[in-house]
Amino acid sequence: MYSPRVIALVAFIGSVNAQVAGYGQCGGSGYSGSTTCTSGFYCTSQNPWYYQCIPGTATTSATSTSKATVTTTTITSSSTSTSTTLKTTTTAQTATKTSTSTGAATCTGTFSAISASDFVAKLHPGWNLGNTLDATPNEGSWNNAPVAASTFSAVQKAGFKSVRIPDSWIWADVTASGANLTMIEEKFYRLWYQVGTKLACKSSLVAFEPINEPPCNTATDAAEINKLNKIFLQAINDAGGFNPQRVVTLVGGGEDSVKTSQWFVAPTGFSNPYAIQFHYYSPYDFIFSAWGKTIWGSDTDKAAVTTDFTLIRNNFTNIPILIGEYDASPTNTEPAARWKYTDHLIRTALGLNFACVLWDNGLDHLDRNAGTWRDPNSISMITKSTASTANSLPDSTEDSSATSQWSSAYIFHQYGTSVVAQSLPFIFNGNTLTSISDSTGSTLTSGTDYSVSGANITFSASYLSKKLSATTAPGVIANLTLTFSGGRSSPVVQIVQWKPPTLSSTTAIASSVSGSDLSIPITWGGLPTVAAVKALTTSGVYLVDTWTVYLGPLQQARATYSSQYNWDSSHVIITSSAISSVISAGVSTVFTFEFYPRVAGGVNAVNFTLTV
Ligand SMILES: *[C@@H]1O[C@H](CO)[C@@H](O)[C@H](O)[C@H]1NC(C)=O
Ligand SMILES: *[C@@H]1O[C@H](CO)[C@@H](O)[C@H](O)[C@H]1NC(C)=O
Ligand SMILES: *[C@@H]1O[C@H](CO)[C@@H](O)[C@H](O)[C@H]1NC(C)=O
Ligand SMILES: *[C@@H]1O[C@H](CO)[C@@H](O)[C@H](O)[C@H]1NC(C)=O
Ligand SMILES: *[C@@H]1O[C@H](CO)[C@@H](O)[C@H](O)[C@H]1NC(C)=O
Repeated sequence: MYSPRVIALVAFIGSVNAQVAGYGQCGGSGYSGSTTCTSGFYCTSQNPWYYQCIPGTATTSATSTSKATVTTTTITSSSTSTSTTLKTTTTAQTATKTSTSTGAATCTGTFSAISASDFVAKLHPGWNLGNTLDATPNEGSWNNAPVAASTFSAVQKAGFKSVRIPDSWIWADVTASGANLTMIEEKFYRLWYQVGTKLACKSSLVAFEPINEPPCNTATDAAEINKLNKIFLQAINDAGGFNPQRVVTLVGGGEDSVKTSQWFVAPTGFSNPYAIQFHYYSPYDFIFSAWGKTIWGSDTDKAAVTTDFTLIRNNFTNIPILIGEYDASPTNTEPAARWKYTDHLIRTALGLNFACVLWDNGLDHLDRNAGTWRDPNSISMITKSTASTANSLPDSTEDSSATSQWSSAYIFHQYGTSVVAQSLPFIFNGNTLTSISDSTGSTLTSGTDYSVSGANITFSASYLSKKLSATTAPGVIANLTLTFSGGRSSPVVQIVQWKPPTLSSTTAIASSVSGSDLSIPITWGGLPTVAAVKALTTSGVYLVDTWTVYLGPLQQARATYSSQYNWDSSHVIITSSAISSVISAGVSTVFTFEFYPRVAGGVNAVNFTLTV
């Protein structure tokens, strides 16, 4: 399997005596080329493996924060023959490389040319090594340790067939004010010439993608991005080896499906098979927990995804397409809504011949330390998505005018109330329920512990009474795994005892806590997550996003996850940005933290007031 460290270990082979061009490599572990930069540039260490020629002279204090932008896609195993594909990759990695007098690589060994459509078909399902090599300033700077081989083993074991390794675009932002496009183009060429040289002899199952999500606002920006696609192709072709035959996945503005549809122009003059890649995080409010949007799944919701995908497909009828990033994260989305979304996205994508590569920033899906998946049901639906039968799914609220939210991913029981039977509506999709097992591995008895009637699975009062009573301590009491006759979904239904959480304090003076996030200790009352946060000033005005008055009751005056609120295992958090909003509004504000279940009347919520 390809490891990104290979990039650093393969020696750069160039003409030893020549001066290195601007932005070229001039040193580093394993490097044996010239260490002298062309006039106007000097050689400086970017990291122990990589020294680069950057503008200026060695006596100036000029530093560069740019770093290699590498996006490669590697198939770790094919759907038809895992071992063969892995062997191919390994063999290609050991192919030797020599250079011609011009520096272009020549490979020994063979290259099994593959069409872009075959490549895209083999990619699915793929996984992103997110927030790792794209972290700035260095790998390890964000929420992940430097990548370990065991991560790729866990990804492969889960059934993923490919890995995408994105890197930063920050230095190549063509929209930045005063951006020097000449410099970006020169760097871009040198960078891809170097990557192309180092990976010149890799297998046909390694593809390159020029740049991750290049910012783009206008047709002019998009034209520059089209130019970057061409420069990228020129550079890897100049680097030689197998690159002229290598599959590439080209990009449009922002890797956004609409901008790509509007402005992408296919480069001419190159023989590389190519696919188009776009990224999909829509609808924004559901994916990023903005404005209290915790529900998804109506016909309108589904049609929006289908329409987005169909439009880009219709714009590029003959070009293979992949979704290089998408994600409904278990970190912040409600499970029944998430499973409906994931199921619909994957099925719609496959119906249009798109391959899908899951985004995972290290906090989303794979716990890289433990090697475990946070939401095995999503992973199962993604990795086994070619199943011929549809998935059975827990149903949940879909109506955006609802005043409360129910979800069949949970059996919620309120502390202090008597235990009664509970019915969970399911979307069976033609399958039958075959078994239910609980966290201890024991199997529930059909007819006694539960029964199926129409679209409902009903858990009896006698069964639920074995698990909890009115006074059971709040928390997750049991995880029930449901198995169906068809599909690939084995949803976990959690039995949750709940009461409203409590905060250790309920007020603070905004000006005395400004400048950083405010973490408030919480004693959870059931699920240890925040569903939504309402922010209302004491004069009755919405603190942010007053237009949310046009949304449903579960969304009005609600803030946005991460930018305005957050939580960790023992705190709820009001961000410094939300505190600033209170200070600039000049009015005390009540933050109402809402929890699952989102019941009517603000029963499962707590208030925290920031005073001015
Ligand atoms: C832009 O970059 C080019 C190439 O590196 C350089 O020659 C030129 O001086 C730069 N222009 C400005 C305005 O900095
Ligand atoms: C191409 O994409 C644009 C932008 O999404 C859309 O307006 C247009 O209808 C699409 N064309 C086709 C043929 O679907
Ligand atoms: C199914 O369960 C829901 C929610 O508990 C309930 O409102 C509905 O009446 C049930 N339907 C049947 C047919 O039992
Ligand atoms: C239920 O599953 C969650 C998440 O996997 C786990 O943290 C928890 O310990 C489980 N609870 C029980 C009672 O099995
Ligand atoms: C929170 O404060 C609002 C007023 O902003 C009030 O209507 C609501 O009842 C309070 N909720 C709780 C749980 O105290």
